[in-house]
Amino acid sequence: MSKDIKSVNYGLEKIFKGAQDFLPLLGTDYVEFYVGNAKQSAHFYKTAFGFQSCAYKGLETGSRDSVSYVLKQDKIRLVLTTPLNSKSPINNHLVKHGDGVKVVALWVEDARKAYEETIKRGAKSYMEPMVETDEHGEVVRSAIYTYGETVHMFVERKNYKGTFLPGFKPWKSEYNPTPVGFKFIDHMVGNVGWGEMNTWVKWYEEVMGFENFLSFDDKQIHTEYSALMSKVMSNGNGRIKFPINEPAKGKKRSQIEEYLDFYEGPGVQHLAMATDDIISTVAQLKSRGVEFLPPPPQSYYDDIPRRLGEHKKMMKEDMTELQKLSIMVDADEEGYLLQIFTKPVEDRPTLFFEIIQRMGAKGFGAGNFKALFESIEREQANRGTL
Ligand code: FE2
Repeated sequence: MSKDIKSVNYGLEKIFKGAQDFLPLLGTDYVEFYVGNAKQSAHFYKTAFGFQSCAYKGLETGSRDSVSYVLKQDKIRLVLTTPLNSKSPINNHLVKHGDGVKVVALWVEDARKAYEETIKRGAKSYMEPMVETDEHGEVVRSAIYTYGETVHMFVERKNYKGTFLPGFKPWKSEYNPTPVGFKFIDHMVGNVGWGEMNTWVKWYEEVMGFENFLSFDDKQIHTEYSALMSKVMSNGNGRIKFPINEPAKGKKRSQIEEYLDFYEGPGVQHLAMATDDIISTVAQLKSRGVEFLPPPPQSYYDDIPRRLGEHKKMMKEDMTELQKLSIMVDADEEGYLLQIFTKPVEDRPTLFFEIIQRMGAKGFGAGNFKALFESIEREQANRGTL
């Protein structure tokens, strides 16, 4: 990998010092998927990924048009939503995109102000500020569109003590598989169309007040056959990171093109789940049937000590164990990271998950890109989509 990747700007705190953050974000509130069968998806995310039953809304709670299951693991909340009749507009989303992420909800102090500030800067409205109440208090939500049909919902819950949101009841289940060690969402990646990356980089800068703190061009991210470009956007306090990918010209069809073809437009490509014990997390996921990309070749593992450099001595994990589980390793100036990628979790080759353990490194595994993409290309070749 070239030196450019290493010479990145990690000085986020400095950039924002002095400048007032007009959109202070406290964290990710939830991620909502529109799916064909929420009941069965919920079972999958509990069984395979160790999510816990949290809240529910449906016919039993008075929701006539859609049903939603809320799942939780440490700080991560997923919402799985399915329409209950053919008239629901959710159907259009499902027909076009298949199962996928509709809402990336962000936790804010003031949802009215978040809406006002982003709309003023050019955001397209999805939902005007709306107050919802029940016996546990009130929640204010508002929402804007980002790339494609994906939405950022702002959630203000400082005056709410309920399980999730008004309208939901706690979901108690007798089936509770153990968690696998997911802690929080490290980053969420969006795929956008040809030549659209910089448009969305500018959008995140201007509308959301984010900064571009890492960039990879097609000279850095390419294999023999395909290429892509990526820029990582981060909010003021660095808690929210949204890398944005666009396809680049190669000899064959890149994974980003494959995604855009099957999702029929831009959308969320992967969610990266942070763990502090990737060996245990991945071993559990594999035993529960989660499928990962095929392992990188032996030469990849032979090269790891060189790539780790001075961080080699601080590495606690056993290399044989990592290789046995096909976990990848990369390093930057500040430390190293361990990561692995699932195969797509939908029938369409669209959304997948990353599992990541950061040991000081703030990058995104650039040193792994080539091995990773070659692995993805082998999968694409199997699907006849390379
Ligand atoms: Fe990632």
